[in-house]
Amino acid sequence: MSDEPLVLGIETSCDETGAGIVRGRTLLADEIASSMDQHARFGGVVPEVASRAHLEAMVPVIDGAFAKAGVKPADIDAIAVTAGPGLAGALMVGVAAAKAYAYALGKPLYGVNHLAAHVAVDQLEHGPLPAPCVALLVSGGHSSLLLVPDVTGTVVPLGATIDDAAGEAYDKVARVLGMPFPGGPPIDRAAREGDGAAIKFPRAKLHDGTLDFSFAGLKTAVARWVEARQDAGQPVPVADVAASFQEAVADVLTRKAVAACTAQGVTDLVVGGGVAANSRLRALAADRCAAAGIRLRVPRPGLCTDNGAMVAALGASIVSAGLPPSPLDIPADSSLPVTEVLVR
Ligand code: KG4
Ligand code: ZN
Repeated sequence: MSDEPLVLGIETSCDETGAGIVRGRTLLADEIASSMDQHARFGGVVPEVASRAHLEAMVPVIDGAFAKAGVKPADIDAIAVTAGPGLAGALMVGVAAAKAYAYALGKPLYGVNHLAAHVAVDQLEHGPLPAPCVALLVSGGHSSLLLVPDVTGTVVPLGATIDDAAGEAYDKVARVLGMPFPGGPPIDRAAREGDGAAIKFPRAKLHDGTLDFSFAGLKTAVARWVEARQDAGQPVPVADVAASFQEAVADVLTRKAVAACTAQGVTDLVVGGGVAANSRLRALAADRCAAAGIRLRVPRPGLCTDNGAMVAALGASIVSAGLPPSPLDIPADSSLPVTEVLVR
């Protein structure tokens, strides 16, 4: 018998219904259902549609996770659930399900922060997080640099986007280029055939001395550039636009991440969130961290985008730290601050 906690993690903050099961830092199951095909034609996630899809997928996904892990519900030690931030109605479905399982099974409930879970998930692949580390968190809803002395309790914001999130910029640029939603994967693919130095797109706030980001101007610059070509009756070199946009995003993110480590005297950087699946961001982060003597940790792409395993991973760390569980009446908090790792 292992004395590491066996934890079920439930994730429903956006369009993915995720259920993961981990024992300590060992991943046993990571089941996922996505309602993305129902949102794609709207060019964004429709909250009500996502909530309904979570409701339908929740029990089958959890059953699937137990079957895959080969454990019985009664065997688990705790249930962790994303309590925020995210879409209010979508979060509510996961939180309600987690409460029902916790109550029915007589197991403790841990309402946890989605953003901290994006960082904690790396432990499933690369072992315990160095303390402290700096985390670059880049998703559809957030772009932040965080100092993480302890992912189960203390997360300190160092900088964040002042407008669009990096993922949001990918999604909007993809629309300009006639690519499907979500835009990250098709831009990543198209960019492989293009030249990242072909068009010099703006890198806002690069030398402003802060650890904040801004991507709204970049998105607009790409749209204007494409419009100008179209107005002139010229073909749009889609691969070059995708690669040049991607280079601008990866350049700013990696420079500021390295600057954050240097400023904090921290030698370990973790990159997480859906945009961390991006091939150019991963490659450039590797180059720049190597040059700066920083150890880089990035989970495999499947663990970067939303999933249940990340919630289970954070839950297991919290249980191992001996922290008390959340009360059964915790709310789903769509704007849960990044500093609140565990809801009490
Ligand atoms: O973390 P995530 O799955 O959901 C949120 O918490 O928001 O991130 C989703 C975002 C989307 O904006 C999507 O376009 C972006 O991650 N994304 C990518 C890639 N894969 C997903 N962005 C760039 N390159 C990718 N390969
Ligand atoms: Zn996320």
